[in-house]
Amino acid sequence: MKRLLIADDDAGMRAALEARFQRRGWLVDVAVNGTEALEKFRAGAHSLVITDVRMPGRDGFELMREIQTSSSRTAVILLTAYGCVPDAVEAMRNGACDYLVKPVCFEKLELAVEQVLRRAEEAGKDTEALIGRSVAWEQALERARQAASTDADILIEAESGTGKELIARLIHRLSRRQSGPFVALNCTAFPETLLESELFGHARGAFTGAVVARPGKFESANGGTLLLDEVGEMPLALQPKLLRALQEREFDRLGSNQTVRVDIRVIATTNRPLEAAVVEGRFRADLFYRLNVIPVSLPPLRDRAGDIAELAEYFAGLYAAPGTHPRLSAELVARLEEHAWPGNVRELANFVRRAVALSHGGEIGIEAFAHGKIPPSRPEWKPGLSLGEMERQLFAMTLESTGGNRARAAELLGVSLRTVRNKVREFGLPPRRNYPSGLRTNRDTSRDKEQPCP
Ligand SMILES: Nc1ncnc2c1ncn2[C@@H]1O[C@H](COP(=O)(O)OP(=O)(O)OP(=O)(O)O)[C@@H](O)[C@H]1O
Ligand SMILES: [Mg+2]
Repeated sequence: MKRLLIADDDAGMRAALEARFQRRGWLVDVAVNGTEALEKFRAGAHSLVITDVRMPGRDGFELMREIQTSSSRTAVILLTAYGCVPDAVEAMRNGACDYLVKPVCFEKLELAVEQVLRRAEEAGKDTEALIGRSVAWEQALERARQAASTDADILIEAESGTGKELIARLIHRLSRRQSGPFVALNCTAFPETLLESELFGHARGAFTGAVVARPGKFESANGGTLLLDEVGEMPLALQPKLLRALQEREFDRLGSNQTVRVDIRVIATTNRPLEAAVVEGRFRADLFYRLNVIPVSLPPLRDRAGDIAELAEYFAGLYAAPGTHPRLSAELVARLEEHAWPGNVRELANFVRRAVALSHGGEIGIEAFAHGKIPPSRPEWKPGLSLGEMERQLFAMTLESTGGNRARAAELLGVSLRTVRNKVREFGLPPRRNYPSGLRTNRDTSRDKEQPCP
C-alpha cells in the first residue's frame, strides 16, 4: 500500500488531507511538526511527503532536505504561504519535489502528487537502467566515468537512441555536482527567438508576451549540470552568445544588461558529427573546440549486438504487467541480435514494449517479428516494386524506428521536417500519437517538440 506522510501544525488541515488521501487508498501518517515528521519518516518508508513550510521547530524546507539526503525516491510537496514562494522555487530545483501556494486546492494537489510520484519513479529508474557488458559499451562507460571526475565540458557524439541522455545523467550523478540540479534543453525544440530566452532567460518586457522576468536553463542549472541536446542544431546567430556563456560562465538575460554568473558543467550532445557541421559552416569552429574539451562517443547498438539479449530481457521486465514475467524465445532473441536497429536502444525498447503488450502471457516467440510489429531490416524490395512504394516503406520504417518523432526521422533520412510531414500526409502514415511513446526519462516536458516549419 502507498504510504503518505502529512506534516502540518494546523489540525484542521491535517485532518482534511488525511481524510482525502485515505479515501484514495493511501496509508496516511500525520505529524504536527517537522521533528515528529522526521521521526515518523525514519520509521516508515513513505513514498510521498506533503509538508507545510512554516512549522514550529524544524520547518518544511529542513524536513525536505533531511528526507532527500536519506531517500532519493521519496517525493516531497511543500505547502507554502505566498511570501515563501521564492524559497520554495529554490528548494524545488533539488529533486522530486513541488510546491503549492496556500490555500490549497485539492484537485491541484492531486495533480501535483501524480507528477512528483512519476518523476521520483523515473529518477529511480534511471539509476538502475545501465544495461550492457560488451567491450564497446564498457569502454564508453569508462570514458564517461573519467569525464565525470573532471569538471570540464563534455561533448557526447552518438547516433539517435544510443543512450546519450542516460550517459549525461550518469556523468552528473558521478560528478561533484551530483547534489545540484540536472537540467536538459533540446536545442531543436524551439525557434531561434524562443531558444535564446530558454537558454539565458529574459527580463520583464523583453519581448511581447514577456510579462514576468524568467530565468533560463543556464541559471536553473546553477550548481549542477546543463545538458544541451542536439547542440549541432543551434542557430548560428545564437552561437556567439553561447560561446561567451561557456567561456566566461556569464551572460545577460534577454532585454537586460545585468550580467548573471553561473557555476555549471555543460554536457552537449549531437547525433551528427559536429566537425562536419563546422566544415559546412553551420557550426562555429571556436564553439566546437570549446565544447569538445572531453569527447565521449557511444557505440550504435549494431556494434554491441552482444548486449541485445540482456537489454531485451530488461525491457520485457520493465514493461511487464504486475505479476507477469514475459520471456523471449531463443529464436526471437537470435533474430533481435541480427537486426540492424537504426533507431538503436530506443527502437529495441519500443519493439519489446509492443511485443509485451500484444503477448498473451508466457513466452514471446518469433511471431512478434513476423506480425509486422517491426519492419524487417531489409524490406522485401524486389524488381517490380514501384519507387513510390519503396519510398513509402522507407518513411514508415524510419518513423517506426523513431517512435513517430518526425524531427528525428527527418534527420535520419537527410530531408527536411516539411518533407516528412508531406510524406506522412501523402502516404497516410499514422499520426504520432499512434506510435508507442518513447522511453524518455527526462523531466523536461518541453523536449521532443518538433521544430516549426521553416
Ligand atoms: N544501456 C542501457 N541500458 C538501459 N536502457 C538504455 C540503455 N541505453 C539506452 N537506454 C534507454 O534507451 C532509451 C534511449 O536512450 P537516450 O534517450 O539516453 O538516448 P539518446 O541517445 O539521448 O537518444 P536521442 O538521440 O533520440 O535523444 C532511453 O529510454 C534509455 O533509458
Ligand atoms: Mg537524447
